[in-house]
Amino acid sequence: MLASRAAARAHTNNLYMGEQIQFRDIMEVLEAIKSRRSVRKYKSVPIPEDMLQRVLNAARLAPSAANMQPWEFVVVMDEDVKKRLSQACVNMPWVLRAPVMIVAIADMDSAFAMIGGYMNSAPVDVAISLDHLTLAAVSEGLGTCWIGAFREEKVQEALGIPAGKRIVSLMTLGYPEETPGPTGRKHLSEIVSYDKYED
Ligand SMILES: Cc1cc2nc3c(=O)[nH]c(=O)nc-3n(C[C@H](O)[C@H](O)[C@H](O)COP(=O)(O)O)c2cc1C
Repeated sequence: MLASRAAARAHTNNLYMGEQIQFRDIMEVLEAIKSRRSVRKYKSVPIPEDMLQRVLNAARLAPSAANMQPWEFVVVMDEDVKKRLSQACVNMPWVLRAPVMIVAIADMDSAFAMIGGYMNSAPVDVAISLDHLTLAAVSEGLGTCWIGAFREEKVQEALGIPAGKRIVSLMTLGYPEETPGPTGRKHLSEIVSYDKYED
């Protein structure tokens, strides 16, 4: 168990450093993208520490505007803290069944301030890192679900997060106890146009 932040940092820095990445056991990215589903039922089985660290490391490796990496994550496994977090979620008692909840935090002040001349990059950067996390989870046989229906001030209060740091999403993580079917997506022809914008 890597109890402290410093121990986890040392462990993570060793992952992939000077080590040949072995692809034979790693699921193809497209396969992971296609098989990922939002999982809302979990086995009450803890996640092995090395697996958790690999999934978190995938979030760390995400790109961000100007490489500012304006993200922080609080990993919650303590049942009392999880209970407080679930109370910060709107109508989602099932989140408590997940062995791990991850709270993704955007540091708006240490992000690229003006994407396109108007937008702070932090929520975009954090969303990309979370997407990396969801795909790494699939490749480990784990399930995730984004949780956007939360009260930010309640999450900040439960975890002692200062008001200036914004919560982008909560995410559940654990071994799936369900295999959700495919969810629909728009057809490519509805969302892609070529050479000029078409409505
Ligand atoms: C930003 C974001 C917020 C979401 N918030 C919730 C949520 O609060 N509760 C929930 O059950 N699912 C939530 N979801 C999951 C979506 O409902 C789900 O991704 C979508 O229906 C497509 O299903 P799939 O993930 O299984 O492909 C969220 C997803 C995203 C990307």
